[in-house]
Amino acid sequence: MGGDFMPDRIRLDGRVAVVTGAAGVIGSATAKRLAERGARIVAVDRQEQDLGAAIRDLPASAEALAISADVTAEDEVKKYVRTAIDRFGKIDVFYNNAGVEGDIAPLTDYSLESFRRVLDVNVVGVFLGLKHVLPVMLARNKGSIINTASIAGLIGAPDIAVYSASKHAVIGLTRSAAIECGKASVRVNCVCPGMIDSRMLSSIIEGRNPSNAPIPNEKIVERIPARRLGRASEVASIVAFLASDEASYVSGSAYTVDGGRTAG
Ligand SMILES: NC(=O)c1ccc[n+]([C@@H]2O[C@H](COP(=O)([O-])OP(=O)(O)OC[C@H]3O[C@@H](n4cnc5c(N)ncnc54)[C@H](O)[C@@H]3O)[C@@H](O)[C@H]2O)c1
Repeated sequence: MGGDFMPDRIRLDGRVAVVTGAAGVIGSATAKRLAERGARIVAVDRQEQDLGAAIRDLPASAEALAISADVTAEDEVKKYVRTAIDRFGKIDVFYNNAGVEGDIAPLTDYSLESFRRVLDVNVVGVFLGLKHVLPVMLARNKGSIINTASIAGLIGAPDIAVYSASKHAVIGLTRSAAIECGKASVRVNCVCPGMIDSRMLSSIIEGRNPSNAPIPNEKIVERIPARRLGRASEVASIVAFLASDEASYVSGSAYTVDGGRTAG
């Protein structure tokens, strides 16, 4: 008994989970958590080498398949969906998570090329995933999709305006998909991580600090009520919950995992 009681109920035995951006910090932590809960994993990323490392980090008992694919290319999205079905026969959970931060610069210095690239990965990639995974779930009247948005999808953020716009779009796609699929018992939610201790956060902090003078940790976390950065495993926990039947009446929501950063 005690504190572990609730998490034990979040089981995904027999489920098949496709995770994009699975070679990254949040994607690999989440693939691991879903596998620990009993799911079989289809790990998708364009970084083949890091994908291998992420797969090796899964529990030994986990059945897993790695697929190298670019989420912005429709034929490659079709390929990862087809390969998942060929291997496991179904997709129960889709963590639509691949994303890029893009350039860190004010709008007036932002290149159109970078703008298009960020929207391509963060919005077109998420759209294509929904477009090709949803029919598989709708055919079985069952499934849970979790997109990765960000707190930058809820509030504005200097020097990452394009990233922020792309994540606002992910929330719009999530809510609209949830309405389109509600009757079929296919749930669509998103998570909005705040400042997670990760490569992407370091890239944003460094990009905003061209002087390279070290920034004290207290300064970085001063606007976070929890007064610390989040861990990728803390995002993984909420994804596992949303993936599971414990969240059977949850759809169209945007869950913040931000230590209270956007509460005020
Ligand atoms: N790290 C944070 O603090 C934070 C906060 C809020 C939201 N997020 C979001 O969480 C998600 C994961 O971020 P992360 O921190 O793990 O970053 P990360 O850079 O470690 O991982 C992102 C992964 O996506 C992959 N990827 C990028 N473009 C791709 C493409 N076109 N096709 C296939 N794969 C592609 C990368 O290879 C990488 O492995 C992203 O959507 C990010 O925007 C991160």
